[in-house]
Formats: sequence, C-alpha cells, structure tokens
Amino acid sequence: MIEIVAAKAADLPEIEALLDARFGPARRNRTAYRLRDAAAPDAALSFVARDGDRLVGSVQCWPLQLRGPGGTILPLTLLGAVASAADRQGEGIATRLMQAALAAVDAAARAPVLLIGDAPFYGRFGFSAAATAGWMLPGPVDRDRLLLRGAADALPAVAWVEPAGVRRAA
Ligand SMILES: CC(C)(COP(=O)(O)OP(=O)(O)OC[C@H]1O[C@@H](n2cnc3c(N)ncnc32)[C@H](O)[C@@H]1OP(=O)(O)O)[C@@H](O)C(=O)NCCC(=O)NCCS
Repeated sequence: MIEIVAAKAADLPEIEALLDARFGPARRNRTAYRLRDAAAPDAALSFVARDGDRLVGSVQCWPLQLRGPGGTILPLTLLGAVASAADRQGEGIATRLMQAALAAVDAAARAPVLLIGDAPFYGRFGFSAAATAGWMLPGPVDRDRLLLRGAADALPAVAWVEPAGVRRAA
C-alpha cells in the first residue's frame, strides 16, 4: 500500500536517485536548480511516497521571492521535481503527492506556488502560465512551462523570480 508521508532529511539520497533516474543527471543544469540550490527544501511542504521500504515518489518545495520593479518583494513557493518511479506510473502517486504538497502550502499560507513543468499535467492542479509572461528567471525558461497557482491580481506583471532572501544593492 502506498503511503504519502513528510520527507525527512534521511530520504534525500533516495529522492536524488529517483530524480536522476527520471530526469537524468543533466537536470542540475536547469534554471529551476538556480532557484532551489540556494536553500534546503522546505520540510513542511515536501513529501515522499513509500511502498513499504521503497521510495516510489517525491515532491519538494523551496522558498522563493518575487521582486517587482519598485523593489517590492513578495514570497512565492517553488514546487519542484514531482516524480514517481518508472515502474509505478499511472497509479496516482504524483497526484497524491501534488495534493499533499498543495494542501500543506494552503494550510501554511505559502501560496502562490510557481513551477516549471508540463501545463497539460499541472493544469489539473490549478497551474497556468497566464500571470508569468513578464517574469524573469536566473536562466532560460520555456514560457509555456512557467506555471503559477494562486491569486495573481496582487502580483506584478514584470518581476524577477529569485531564491528567498536574495538582497540587491540599492
Ligand atoms: C509526470 C509524472 C510525475 C506522473 O506521475 P504518475 O505517478 O504516473 O501520475 P499519476 O498516476 O498521479 O497521474 C497520471 C496522469 O497524469 C498524466 N500525465 C503524466 N505525465 C503527463 C504529462 N507530461 N503531460 C500531461 N499529462 C501527463 C497521465 O496521462 C495520467 O492521466 P489520467 O489521470 O487522465 O489517466 C511521472 O511520469 C514522472 O515522474 N515523470 C518524470 C518526471 C516528470 O516529468 N515530472 C513532472 C514534470 S516536471
């Protein structure tokens, strides 16, 4: 039976092995890694799927900030790297991981949530590229894959997405 449980530090080697298997080691060159490598994943918003002793899926979240042209800074959550084991596709593992992470985000008032991924998959969880067309990242990004979930009315149309806590000289 598959259980969704909070990710622990001790799960990290298995999570990394799963992500290498599903995305390839070149995943570390992706723009998302320039956003997430500045901090540890947020333990309260990160989950693994376990079938007995085996880790069969994971989702992790990181703190980000959105810097507007006037210097305003708003918090964002990066949801990164949802994956399930290759031999366990279509069992609802990724869906359950997404539901757990998004429920935790909502309970902790950590929306809005940003991710870089396939809109056909993430659209079902409320993600869309509508609000992010003018957002800049620290690397190239396919605009159709820069997806946001959460109210965008109060967010700037043009902004920089950065790891949380980045400061710039005035
Ligand atoms: C994408 C992924 C996370 C789906 O995991 P999963 O555990 O099989 O997902 P679920 O069983 O919860 O859901 C499967 C559903 O998602 C759909 N789906 C899977 N990948 C999809 C994609 N790239 N685009 C659109 N739909 C997709 C399936 O068709 C299926 O649809 P259905 O429910 O209508 O039948 C998994 O294939 C994976 O780890 N892929 C490699 C890493 C990856 O691409 N991660 C996400 C993109 S950043």
